[in-house]
Amino acid sequence: MTLKGRDFLTLKDFSDSEILYLLDLAAYFKKKKKNGELTDELRGKNVALIFEKTSTRTRCSFETAAHDLGMGTTYLDPSGSQIGKKESIADTAKVLSRIYDGIEYRGFGQEIVESLAENADVPVWNGLTNEYHPTQILADMLTVREHLGSLKGKTLAYMGDARYNMGNSLMIGCSKLGLHFRAVAPEKYFPSKELVSQCEKWAAESGGSILLTSDVNEGTKDADIVYTDVWVSMGEPDEVWEERIRDLTPYRVTMDVMNNTAKGSIFLHCLPAFHDLGTVIGKEIERKYGIREMEVTDEVFKKYENSVFDEAENRMHTIKAVMAATLRDWDI
Ligand code: CP
Ligand code: NVA
Repeated sequence: MTLKGRDFLTLKDFSDSEILYLLDLAAYFKKKKKNGELTDELRGKNVALIFEKTSTRTRCSFETAAHDLGMGTTYLDPSGSQIGKKESIADTAKVLSRIYDGIEYRGFGQEIVESLAENADVPVWNGLTNEYHPTQILADMLTVREHLGSLKGKTLAYMGDARYNMGNSLMIGCSKLGLHFRAVAPEKYFPSKELVSQCEKWAAESGGSILLTSDVNEGTKDADIVYTDVWVSMGEPDEVWEERIRDLTPYRVTMDVMNNTAKGSIFLHCLPAFHDLGTVIGKEIERKYGIREMEVTDEVFKKYENSVFDEAENRMHTIKAVMAATLRDWDI
C-alpha cells in the first residue's frame, strides 16, 4: 500500500482498504508512542499549518504528530498570514510548496483546500472545511474499532445538523467501511441528496446502509454508536442559534436516547461540546435562551467521557498516520 504524494482532502477520494491502512498505521504509531519508541523518520522535513478557523485538537495533533515524526512546523493563525486577503490561494500554494514538504489547511469552503492542492507540489491535508472533516473520521473509526472490536456491521446514529462537515464525513466514512449510518434530524438538516446517493452506492458495495429519519426512537434503536456535534458550527452567524435550538433540542443526546441503543454502545463527539455552563458561549446561551446543556446532556457526556477522550487522543495518532503515509512509504 502506498499513499505517498497523495492529498488528503475528503474520504471520498480513498478506498476502504486505503482508509483501513491509515487506521492500521495510526495504531502502529500509537503503540510505538505508548512504548516510548521514537518514530522520527521524517527528520529534515517541515510542514505548514494554516488555520483560518480556531482549533484545539487539530492544531495540537498536527504539531505533536509532526514533531514526533521529526518534522518542523509553522503555524499560521486565522489572522497571521496574507492568505486570501493579499495573496491568492494559488500563489500561496506555490510559495509554500517551495518551502515546505506538506500543507495543512483548516478553513471555510472545500474549494479553498482543493485549490491549494491543485496548485501545490506537496501533499495538502484537510484539517476541516465547512463540508468535510476527514481526519476526524479516522480518529472516530479508530476509537470505534478499539472500543467495539470491529467496524463492519456496526450502526452509527448521528444526531443533529447532519448536512455539515461532521454529518457528511461520517456518512462517507461509514458507507465506505460497511457501517450502517443513520442521520437522526429534522428533514432540513439531512445531508444533500447528491451525497446520499453517492454514499448509498458505496454502502451497497461495503455491506453498510444509509437511513435518514426524523424519528429519534427509530434512529437510535439498537445503535452501537451515538454521535453528535455542536448545533452551530464555526463560521456560522450568531443569528442561527435561535432556530437551531428550536429545531435540534428534540435531537439532544439524553440518557433516554442512550437507553434505546444496543448493549455496550458508546457515545462519541468530535468536540468541543456544550454539555454544561463551563464555556463563554454556553453561559451566553443560558442567559438568552434558558438552556443549560445543548447537543448532549452533562449526564451522558460524563458517563461516556472515556470513549470521547480516547477519540480526542486518537486525533493525534491518526493525523500522524495521514502525514506519514503521504510523505513516505512505511513497512508495518
Ligand atoms: N474536533 C476538532 O476538530 O477539534 P478542534 O476544533 O479543537 O480542532
Ligand atoms: N461542525 C463543527 C465541527 C468542529 C470540530 C464545526 O465546524 O465547527
